[in-house]
Amino acid sequence: MRRRLAAGNWKMNGTRQNLPEIAALAAAHPVAAVDILICPPATLLAQAATLAEGSAVTIGAQDCHPAPSGAHTGDIAAPMLADAGARAVILGHSERRADHAETSALVAAKTRAAHDAGLLAILCLGETLAQREDAQTIAVVTEQLRASLPDSATATNTVLAYEPVWAIGTGLTPSAAQIAEVHGVLRACIAEHLGAPEADQMRLLYGGSVKPDNAAAIFAIADVDGALVGGASLRARDFAPIIAALGSA
Ligand code: 13P
Repeated sequence: MRRRLAAGNWKMNGTRQNLPEIAALAAAHPVAAVDILICPPATLLAQAATLAEGSAVTIGAQDCHPAPSGAHTGDIAAPMLADAGARAVILGHSERRADHAETSALVAAKTRAAHDAGLLAILCLGETLAQREDAQTIAVVTEQLRASLPDSATATNTVLAYEPVWAIGTGLTPSAAQIAEVHGVLRACIAEHLGAPEADQMRLLYGGSVKPDNAAAIFAIADVDGALVGGASLRARDFAPIIAALGSA
């Protein structure tokens, strides 16, 4: 039985004045039927982790450097994230692959660094609109998985997030059949790479325009174990109904 996960990615949004959103979620969830994760910007990690302490809400980061320390101005190492109170880190997000030319090889190195620091890696993959229209979706996501997943990955230290690039921040979502197809293929691929028991236990999130009004339908799709939510995770009043929908899925 896979424990479901509602993860929020605040991206480059939020200052200290937004911390009450995390406090509100934490206060509303002393315990929860699903795992709840908020990934604020790095500037807020330590304060967010303190606010969430003792609740069902855990705090994660949005990126890490592959090295544990060193001369890398402006970067943050995975052990530093853990020290700040993060329990997870998003890696390979399409915005980082695009904005910072991150390759799958780099994503694999970062994912290994996250594992070494004891962090849960949320590994993102997904096709662009041009790739979907060119019938390349399955080829793209399976290649991203092959090249981004280090052999340190297990169902305990890694979660996959399927995020079609064209669905992020657009209000567009794939059909249920399209999501089910990709998630089914991903689970089969994990079985090839890590074996059937890990594949059976690894959580697969869907991300891209998940909102309170479409969450229940998305969570009813086979092989969807939760969501990675951008815009709708910024306010507790939007994220709470998504958490509730996951809890009753
Ligand atoms: P939106 O929910 O804003 O579409 O963002 C999805 C996403 O990129 C989460 O990582």
